[in-house]
Amino acid sequence: MFKKLAIGAAFALALAPVASHAAGGGEQHIEDFQFSFEGPFGTYDQNQLQRGLQVYTEVCAACHGLKYVPLRTLGDEGGIGWSEDQVRAYAAEMFTVYDPELEDDRPAIPTDHFPANTAAGAPDLSMMAKARAGFHGPYGLGINQMFKGIGGAEYIASLLTGYTGQEKEEAGSILYENTAFPGGWISMAPPLSDEQVEFADGHANDLHHLSADVSAFLMWAAEPKMMARKQAGLVGVVFLTILASMLYLTNKRLWAPHKGKKAH
Ligand code: HEC
Repeated sequence: MFKKLAIGAAFALALAPVASHAAGGGEQHIEDFQFSFEGPFGTYDQNQLQRGLQVYTEVCAACHGLKYVPLRTLGDEGGIGWSEDQVRAYAAEMFTVYDPELEDDRPAIPTDHFPANTAAGAPDLSMMAKARAGFHGPYGLGINQMFKGIGGAEYIASLLTGYTGQEKEEAGSILYENTAFPGGWISMAPPLSDEQVEFADGHANDLHHLSADVSAFLMWAAEPKMMARKQAGLVGVVFLTILASMLYLTNKRLWAPHKGKKAH
């Protein structure tokens, strides 16, 4: 009897934080977007990254900076993959930076970073895709992350598509209801809508596609070497598998003369 009670109490204690977590703040809804870079063999989709860069440049850059991302990385293989000329033209056309030597503004060059920007309190997006998680649970154990990944890109895409259209005013600022944002109300007005950005190749540009594209781009910004990392991991696993089988065979052979003998 006492044992049963004790087990019951232990369960209640274990589940209590979960219950209180669920009670505080709105229910977060994260859509499981399918990204090309998911899974152990996933790679970035170059065209998607280029579209995402365009969405970032035309829309998000008005408020958000990417201050840790050097412009020259737009030429890296496995990412946006632009030529040097394309990078130089983009940098000069899109951004001006303050040069302390000239004591004046000048067009950006590839060795500059994307400008910082904190207009209206918008956070820098360089690391955002790694700073946020789309998947947790169940019960805060994080097991979903083992199957679906951390879900930073899914979180951002769900945030961009998660506006309900409801607004409220709180302490003089307007908050927008959002089903992905923890707490349910965010101070960022819905930044994207259907057909807001036009792609040169006529690619689909509804809200859902625009959100996925810019989220993929922000994942690349936060982890430009993801493909190299996965490849190194794979080489490591193959190497260790071969090493382990050779050690096993060596061990077997070394002990073979002594096996099957009777102990004296
Ligand atoms: C008009 C300015 C503005 C524009 C344009 C804008 N944002 Fe924001 N964004 C904000 C502000 C302000 C916040 C802080 C919101 C808060 O914490 O309540 C924010 C927060 C965010 C966050 C962080 C949410 C979190 O979990 O803390 C992400 C991600 C984000 N924006 C992505 C984007 C993307 C992607 C775009 C372009 C499609 C974009 N934003 C365009 C102003 C803007």
